[in-house]
Amino acid sequence: MPDNLLLDNGQGVIDPDTYFETNSPPSNLNEYDEKTSEFVKYHGARGTPVVLITSGGTMVPLENQTVRFIDNFSAGTRGAVSAEKFLENGYAVIFMHRQFSLQPYSRHYTHSANGFLDYMTLNEEGKIEVDAKYAPSMTETLVKYNKARNNNMLLLVDFVTLSDYLFKLKSFTRIMATLGRSAMYYLAAAVSDFFIPVEKMAEHKIQSRDGALTLTLDQVPKFLKPLVSVWASNGLIVSFKLETDGNLLVPKARQALEKYGHQIVIGNMLSTRKKTVTFITQDSERVMSLDQEELDKDVEIESKIVPELIRYHRAWINHGTLDV
Ligand code: PMT
Repeated sequence: MPDNLLLDNGQGVIDPDTYFETNSPPSNLNEYDEKTSEFVKYHGARGTPVVLITSGGTMVPLENQTVRFIDNFSAGTRGAVSAEKFLENGYAVIFMHRQFSLQPYSRHYTHSANGFLDYMTLNEEGKIEVDAKYAPSMTETLVKYNKARNNNMLLLVDFVTLSDYLFKLKSFTRIMATLGRSAMYYLAAAVSDFFIPVEKMAEHKIQSRDGALTLTLDQVPKFLKPLVSVWASNGLIVSFKLETDGNLLVPKARQALEKYGHQIVIGNMLSTRKKTVTFITQDSERVMSLDQEELDKDVEIESKIVPELIRYHRAWINHGTLDV
């Protein structure tokens, strides 16, 4: 069989349990589980609220020895900026991000228009220094970053593939479940809805000699269902919904809320995601936007999203409901 005819359609959607039985866990899962358990235990003992932030897009390989893959859109901005805002508000953060996507604090320098070395200069003795024009803001950022790391408030965990993401999501949410309502799950990652099961995947690089390539992808099981009802059942769960068609945003967000039964969906449109979001709960719908003055001052919308979620989380911790 030529490699590029390998992609027969699956019959229906497999359930999450079958997915985990038929895929291998990532090789670093145990190491990250241990770190997550320690982190959760440490903060559980101190009563610090903990948020698990997922950030960045998942990758779906087309070949076992992967040369080609399908990626989901997400730079990781939403997750990285939100992590900073949660840290500033006293939360401990598990930042589960796509490898090499934006990270809290480092994001200001790693993915900017300047290259990293443009921030540096050589002094009269030929020693390297931070360029004076960047030093004040870099110092401010470094102080915040060091505070987070030195106080054990930030745990960085990465993923690459869809499978990597799903195994870690399941494992970390179950570890965090020991915190009960003090846990918040902030699911900002863009997770692939389609994948190629291992048994249908080409082993080697798909060759072009057989002409056009037709791909049929299976549907990814709906993992939010077990996440909400079993893995993370007591915590506050916030999922995001990204759309490009404005007519679909609120109906799809509401549909997710009804289907999975969690507390909050934040809807955002691809083109306006940095300035407008819609908060949707079982009983409410509210648009949150930055006005022109805020945009001119480079205010980030996460500085409004996160305090609002913290208010919801307090109600959740104290009363087990958002309506107080
Ligand atoms: O990173 P940026 O460039 O700043 O962009 C941020 C964003 C636009 C990606 C972000 O704000 C956003 O909208 N993320 C969710 C994108 C989306 O619609 O994801 P989804 O339809 O694949 O999933 C819906 C929700 O379920 C998400 O919260 C997702 O993280 C979660 N999910 C989905 C499937 C799955 N198997 N596991 C999940 O946790």
